[in-house]
Amino acid sequence: MTLSTKNILGTRELTKNDIQQILDTADSFKEISTRAIKKVPTLRGKTIINLFFEPSTRTRTSFEIAGKRLSADVINISGATSSAVKGENLIDTARNLEAMNPDILVVRHDCSGAVELLSQFVSSPIINAGDGSHEHPSQALLDLLTIRSHKGNLKGLSVAIVGDINHSRVVRSNIRAMQTMGMKVRVVGPPPLIPVEMKRLGVEVSYNLIETIKDVDVIMVLRVQLERQSQGLLSSLREYSNYFCLTSETLAQARDDVLIIHPGPVNRGIEISLDVMRSPRSLILNQVTNGVAVRMALFYLLLGENNANPN
Ligand code: CP
Repeated sequence: MTLSTKNILGTRELTKNDIQQILDTADSFKEISTRAIKKVPTLRGKTIINLFFEPSTRTRTSFEIAGKRLSADVINISGATSSAVKGENLIDTARNLEAMNPDILVVRHDCSGAVELLSQFVSSPIINAGDGSHEHPSQALLDLLTIRSHKGNLKGLSVAIVGDINHSRVVRSNIRAMQTMGMKVRVVGPPPLIPVEMKRLGVEVSYNLIETIKDVDVIMVLRVQLERQSQGLLSSLREYSNYFCLTSETLAQARDDVLIIHPGPVNRGIEISLDVMRSPRSLILNQVTNGVAVRMALFYLLLGENNANPN
């Protein structure tokens, strides 16, 4: 089992076979997290560095737990407490970390393209844990795993992605991965939050929530990225939620078997109501659980066949 790529920079580089291998491997790893002793020796002696220049709850913790469940040594570095605050640049930071011989670097950065740039300066495999509004491939893969676990397959499924499309790295990674797997994608939100590139990517664009969610298999709700609204694209949050918040009233217009996912963190009452978050159709916490299995699969597949004993 090998992937066609040495790094996971985005879903654009992943083939259908890559995605299938990652999801199948993740499925086989899920069981480890349910054991009394949640650890296997697969990556004993390997070193993983998590380098996060942006805040994170789910992704950083999930990569750390994934590495530890496979017995790797995991080191977490936050940009705010690294020598970046003394002026060291990103490339020098990464090259210095690489001088300590890690086996994988996991990097989150607020600049789109920063992780791809780093990959040109270090020889260790790199996983993009989210760069600006560009890509968040492990999130898209855990979203696909969650959908596949509930629907049985991915091909032919339709997905409505709702909200702040403009600032979302999750949407860009998901569109590419979903299209690779034969899924149909629509995006819906206020016009200022839907960039023109969406039509070029081959997705349907809509500005009407109810029309868009009526007949889809999955609704993915996105967080309104309050920290990235400096351009004044939104007139008010109240107006946004009047039209685009997924509530039980709007959800009543969707199919009974529709699945609801959200990458988190959630702005309760702005893009999704509390009762919808907690409804049986919501898989939000299931996504978080699946994130550990997906990241275990990524480590396992990137570190290669020398680690072929998953038990
Ligand atoms: N989904 C996601 O990336 O969450 P965090 O920002 O908490 O990692």
